[in-house]
Amino acid sequence: MINSIEVAGAKLEFSDTGSPSPNAPMLLLVHGFPLSRAMWSAQVKALAQEFRIVAPDLRGYGGSTIGDWPTDEHTVSLRRYAEDLVAILDYLQHDGPVVLVGFSMGGYIALAMEREWPDHFGALALLDTRAAADSEESRATRLKMADKIHEWGAARVAELMRPNLFAAGTPEAIVEQTVQLIGSTQPASIAASQRAMAARPDSTSRLPAINKPTLVLVGQSDAISPPGEMQTMAQSIPGAQYVEIAGAGHMAPVENSAAVNAALKEFASGLS
Ligand code: MLT
Repeated sequence: MINSIEVAGAKLEFSDTGSPSPNAPMLLLVHGFPLSRAMWSAQVKALAQEFRIVAPDLRGYGGSTIGDWPTDEHTVSLRRYAEDLVAILDYLQHDGPVVLVGFSMGGYIALAMEREWPDHFGALALLDTRAAADSEESRATRLKMADKIHEWGAARVAELMRPNLFAAGTPEAIVEQTVQLIGSTQPASIAASQRAMAARPDSTSRLPAINKPTLVLVGQSDAISPPGEMQTMAQSIPGAQYVEIAGAGHMAPVENSAAVNAALKEFASGLS
């Protein structure tokens, strides 16, 4: 089922799939940059038998509008994206455990939720993401893209990102699907997210305070959030599980969906 709610000037659209028992875990799947909930189609298909799967489009992506913020001077902060997810959770009032699953930028947003609204979810899955803030160099690259995006268009962003997203040998059809998804993103949303990510704080020092079940998962060839860094992240979170996905780069949930689904299933099953 596709649903939507109005939150702070935007229409937020989300899919709500699977109707297991009311107490079954609910997975809230938060997509990366600059994608949409479409990236989760394999997870929705495979996991909705057992779990309730809610996949929102962040404001400005897919079927969600961006609201009043994005002009050349303003941005959507990661806190705003996090607050939008809190509004969706408040609206859904799910009875069972809520697993917050954040992929890449979705992981940055999940860490923002953990900082301010930790009571809104019971478990955390951090997929192909980072706790560290940007280096000065990557911050400058992001701000340049934000400034130039209306001139460049989203297709150029897709081509710039393509070489870093996939493991060697990923089937061209999978690569093309993601490249097209990126290319269909509104330029204003790309600018807004780049500015938001450039401004995000370092979350490394907060990891030891995370006191809920946590899964840390990464594609073995991830060039954006490298396995070594994610393993260190897992070691900093008390009791966290660490999983590496073979045959996958940054886009592990689409490159090797079977292995990612198996890891999510095992993790979420242990919660109910
Ligand atoms: C993403 O996949 O969400 C982005 O690559 C994250 C980033 O740019 O840091």
